[in-house]
Order: sequence, then structure tokens, then C-alpha cells
Amino acid sequence: MTTDRHAQTMTYTDADAARHYEKALDHLLFFREEVVAEAGAVLAASPRSAMGHVLQAYLGVLGTEEKDAAEAAGAFAAYRADVPDADLTPRERLHVTAAAHWLDGELHRAADVLADLAVAYPRDALALAVGHQLDFFTGDAVLLRDRVGGALSAWDPDDPHYGLLRGMYAFGLEEAGHYAEAEQAGLDAVGRNPRDVWGIHAVVHSYEMRGRYEDGIRFLDDRADDWASGNYLNVHNWWHYALYVLETGRTDRVLAVYDTAVHHQESSDAAMELLDAAALLWRLYLAGADTGERWPALADAWARRGDGAHYAFNDVHAVMAHVGAGRVADAERLIGDREAWLRATGTGRPDLSNVAMTAEIGLPVCRALVAYGQGRYADAVDLLLPLRRRLHTFGGSHAQRDAVQKTLVEAALRAGRHDLARTLLSERVSLRPRCPYDQDAWARLARLAKEARPDPRT
Ligand SMILES: [Fe+2]
Repeated sequence: MTTDRHAQTMTYTDADAARHYEKALDHLLFFREEVVAEAGAVLAASPRSAMGHVLQAYLGVLGTEEKDAAEAAGAFAAYRADVPDADLTPRERLHVTAAAHWLDGELHRAADVLADLAVAYPRDALALAVGHQLDFFTGDAVLLRDRVGGALSAWDPDDPHYGLLRGMYAFGLEEAGHYAEAEQAGLDAVGRNPRDVWGIHAVVHSYEMRGRYEDGIRFLDDRADDWASGNYLNVHNWWHYALYVLETGRTDRVLAVYDTAVHHQESSDAAMELLDAAALLWRLYLAGADTGERWPALADAWARRGDGAHYAFNDVHAVMAHVGAGRVADAERLIGDREAWLRATGTGRPDLSNVAMTAEIGLPVCRALVAYGQGRYADAVDLLLPLRRRLHTFGGSHAQRDAVQKTLVEAALRAGRHDLARTLLSERVSLRPRCPYDQDAWARLARLAKEARPDPRT
């Protein structure tokens, strides 16, 4: 009977396929593009391999691409018709259940099943890594931290994947607000595996959240060869680099990073990359910066995708691009499509994660972005204010969602809601006293409030 590196049985998987599986898992943990070829090699060697099919299913959903997910769902259904669950081990059955839930759009259920799996099999790195990404997509900061934290003590610190788990844990610590511990765990992870791009990313977030922009730039510059190309996270880490630069006030350098690394003519139309591009340009839009022809190019890329309702977090970034390009009709078309989808699907499928994400967060945020673009700042405030403390429920990181939080700040300033703007900025400055954006917004508020006060001499 074949087992993986941790003596976990792999049904219908021969030794050659198991070797490919271990390689694929390693690539996945390092965010290397080679994971695709190795995952294919598992099934080429053992076409009925349970873990091979589970891995393929997860690869189909991890990119949040509707078409990939549909293709993976078809392949997984064919596999399940061929191999009954009764043939599998309890661990494999849990994976099959989790994969089926995610393919069916039930992200929260998939996350729960993988959490159960990790209790019984804490050294299943695939369950931890996929569960970790689910916690990210569902915006569950506590589980981002504790899913990995709950398994770590079962791992030998000398295991080659232990450092990668530390990198995941670092990101969970950061999202849960433990910034110093996140930095330490992330640096430990990167010390163990210099090309652990997720661990690098966790350290980067820990600097972002504390306003340590110069440290962040230095950290990324010092190890550019380890993260800046050849992995699935390089565009996203460049986006983080650009966020640091943005705080230095060098818009020209931000645009240079955008043009060379975030979005350009050779860029793919992958949602995970386009959303970084939109989130960066949107910050420049809020600042009133001239971004040339970049918005129309980005809006074209989103339009080419022709997305249906799949992940509300992506929808919001598509709408940023449409509004940024001045194509309000395209933004409204997307909003109308999602409203129709909710009417047709929402009540019958409350278990679909994207239903609540779209209804409660995605659509109101999209409408607020349109309102902002049309200069209806009071409407943007009214849409964003009620949901600003539960924005995380449609996924992403604090740093990503800050584009929306900043939209609320700017809308409050422009709508003359000075008390609200003061409260929002006080929250921000109290947490991150060194953030130049917040300091600038604070100064603008002071000017606006002074102008609004009646002159006592008149
Ligand atoms: Fe990030």
C-alpha cells in the first residue's frame, strides 16, 4: 500500500504517482507554477489516484476563476462516478467532501471539513494549505491563525515543510492583529526557506500594518531574487511593494512598478492579478493622480473575462476598473447581473458562500464605488458606513480591503461629513501613527473644517 511522506495512505496511487504528488505538494506550498505539471503527472501515473484527483480539484478553485472551477467540477464528478468513496480512507473521504463543497461554491463548508480533517490528521499539509487559502477567501482572520497554529505542534521542526507552515502561521498572526509575532514567525519561515514567498508576504503585511514602509521596501529589495518572478505570488508581492512606495509620495515610481510588474501588455487576465492592478490604481484615483491610459486598458482586461457571479471580491475590483475608466455603464451592467443572479439563486442556495458575500458586501461596495465615481459622495458614505466593520466577510486581507476603507474616508471628506471623517481618521492614526496617507487626510480634514466654520466677524 502506498503512503505519503507522513505514512498517510494514498488509495489507487502507485509509488511513481506518490512521488509526483509529493513534488506537486512542495510546489504548491512554494507557489511555484510547476505544481500544474506535477499534479498532472500524478494522474498520468495513477489515473484513479484519490489524492491526485483531490489535488486537481483544489487547483481548479484556488485561483477564483469560474471557468477553471467549472472544468475541475466536471473532472471531479467523473472521478467520483468511477471511484466510490467507500474505497477511500477516512482522510481521503474528508478531502473529497471538502473539494466537492468548494467546487460547488460552498467555501465555508469546505473550510469546516478541512478543519475537522486537520484535527484528526494534523500533518496533512495539503489540508492545511488549502484550508488556509479558504480562510483567506472567506476573510476569517481567527481561523487563518488557528487552523495552522492548531496543527503546528504535531510537526517535527526538522520537517522540510515545517518552515512553510510557519510562513502560513505568520500570515494568520498578522491578519489576527499580532504584528510583532507575525514578523518574527515570518522571518523564521524565510530563514528556513528563503524562497517561501508566502512567508515573505506575511512579513510584508506585518510592515504594512504598522506603517513601516521603509523597512518593507528594504526587506523586499534585499531578497528580490527570491520573490520577484517565477511564482504565483510575484504580482501580488509587487503590489505590496507599490503600496509602500505610494506612501513615500512617489507616484511616478508607483506607476513604474505598475507598468513593469503589476499590469502590462504581457500580463495574464487572471483575476488575482487584475484585482491587484485595480486596487493600486484605485488608490491613485482616490488621490486624484493622473494614471494616463492605464484604467481603460485594465477595464478592457476585466471586460474580456466576461465574469459571471463567482466571487464578490473580484466583482468589486472589476467595478473599480470600470469606474476608474469612466465606464459607469459597464459597472452598472455588472451590478445588474449580480442582482439578477441573487434573485434567481440566492434564496435557493443560502449555502453558496458567494450569495452572502455578494448580497451583504459585494453589491453595496460596487454601488458605493459607482456613487463615488459619479461624485455622489454622501451616497457612497451611506452605502459603506454600515458595512465597514464586517467588510472582511467577503475575503481578502486588511491591506486589500483598505482600498474600500479609504474610499469611505475620502467620501466622508468630500461629502462634508467632518465628524465621521475625524472618527475614521482618528481610528487609523491611533493604530498607525506613521502613515503618510492618514496624516495627509488629517491635514485636509483640518482645512475643510476650518473653511466650513462661519467667520465670527461676519
Ligand atoms: Fe497581501
